[in-house]
Amino acid sequence: MQYDVEYIRNQFPALKVTVNGHPAAYFDGPGGTQVPERVIEAMVSYLSNCNANAGGYFKTSQESDQIIAGARCALADFLGSEADEIAFGQNTTTLIYQLALALGRFPGRRNEIIITEIDHEANRGPWQALEEKGFIIREARFDPESCTLDLEDFKAKLSENTLVAAFNYASNAVGTISDVGEMARLTKEAGAISVVDAVHYALHGPIDVKAIGVDYLICSAYKFFGPHIGVLYGKREPFSALPSYRLQVQLDGIPHRIETGTLNHEGIAGAAEAVEFIADIGDRFGAISCVSNPGGHNCPDRREKILAGMQVLEKYEQPLADKLLKHLAAIKGVRVYAPPAGQPRTSTVSFTVEGISPDRVTEILGEKGIFAWNGHFYALRLVERLGLADKGGLIRIGLSPYNTEAEIDRLLFEIEAVAGN
Ligand SMILES: Cc1ncc(COP(=O)(O)O)c(C=O)c1O
Repeated sequence: MQYDVEYIRNQFPALKVTVNGHPAAYFDGPGGTQVPERVIEAMVSYLSNCNANAGGYFKTSQESDQIIAGARCALADFLGSEADEIAFGQNTTTLIYQLALALGRFPGRRNEIIITEIDHEANRGPWQALEEKGFIIREARFDPESCTLDLEDFKAKLSENTLVAAFNYASNAVGTISDVGEMARLTKEAGAISVVDAVHYALHGPIDVKAIGVDYLICSAYKFFGPHIGVLYGKREPFSALPSYRLQVQLDGIPHRIETGTLNHEGIAGAAEAVEFIADIGDRFGAISCVSNPGGHNCPDRREKILAGMQVLEKYEQPLADKLLKHLAAIKGVRVYAPPAGQPRTSTVSFTVEGISPDRVTEILGEKGIFAWNGHFYALRLVERLGLADKGGLIRIGLSPYNTEAEIDRLLFEIEAVAGN
């Protein structure tokens, strides 16, 4: 079945918002997508029907436990792991802090940590904090010309002293997708632990933690139609031995050893439903469909539907991103910051407009009901390396499955006006 953007849009209550008579056009997806009704309902249903703490011998606690166990299975299908390798936390930043605290707890012979200049601060700051414990932090270079990570530099920085290499799957500022499979392989070859920030990538492509061979991978459900919680994949070994800080009453097996305190149960219920939403897209619009063949013996399992769903979304978004890139680049005074054609990238496009600050541009767009972010988006080092840190950073347009070509035309019209063309 052909991708039906109206079917998708009808599921998002937030798309009814208007500003000064203009329908809202949400290009703020990399800061967090909108949430489908079914995800909202799953959270409300949790709170209405089975709100309880974990591990009790009564109905609501048992149902709550089942929902959380089911959510681990759903997120495992999303990332390609086993259910007990999935832990939940407050958000990605907090999960990476917990990981860094644990991995840096008992300094040994390996006293170097590699971070990158292309990363969000969430995968830099927690590791830099380990300098206090005597760790040496090495930064792999970002090339501002090509907007890509310098893989050779990353490789050169790995050594027998490396404890951890922390890098992102895709840049939330310029959309560049890095070769994480190769980076994880090089990290493993050096005997070090890989920690991948997949927050930006998670909305834009299928993830297979086993195929890329990472040790830890973290993402946040609010970037892929879910509520504000973080999700951590930890490879069984070394996760089982992670020396995390935890209470003596806390379960110490995986995945619990990094889950401090009571989890966000309703958020977990919502995250699982967000995965079902993606699976449903794969089912409806992907190559093999149970919707058109209900009960058919060829019906794929949830993992296959999720993979198909991610493919459907990118197939829809990439041509829109190409159009946006092409037309933006043609506007006088606009400078696009993007990887070269052919380099893997998400549908996120960033740019500046000569003579007008990014915050003023997004303010003008905001008045017209066009929602976009400006600034450094916490990818501070990257924006510094682009020479834009003292110029207000970038304007970022993030495409999500509910965006339409008409919205892009509206956006381009306003940018042309702002640029004085
Ligand atoms: C690439 C990337 N990493 C990490 C984060 C931080 O995620 P969280 O807000 O869940 O801590 C973000 C948030 O924008 C991000 O885009």
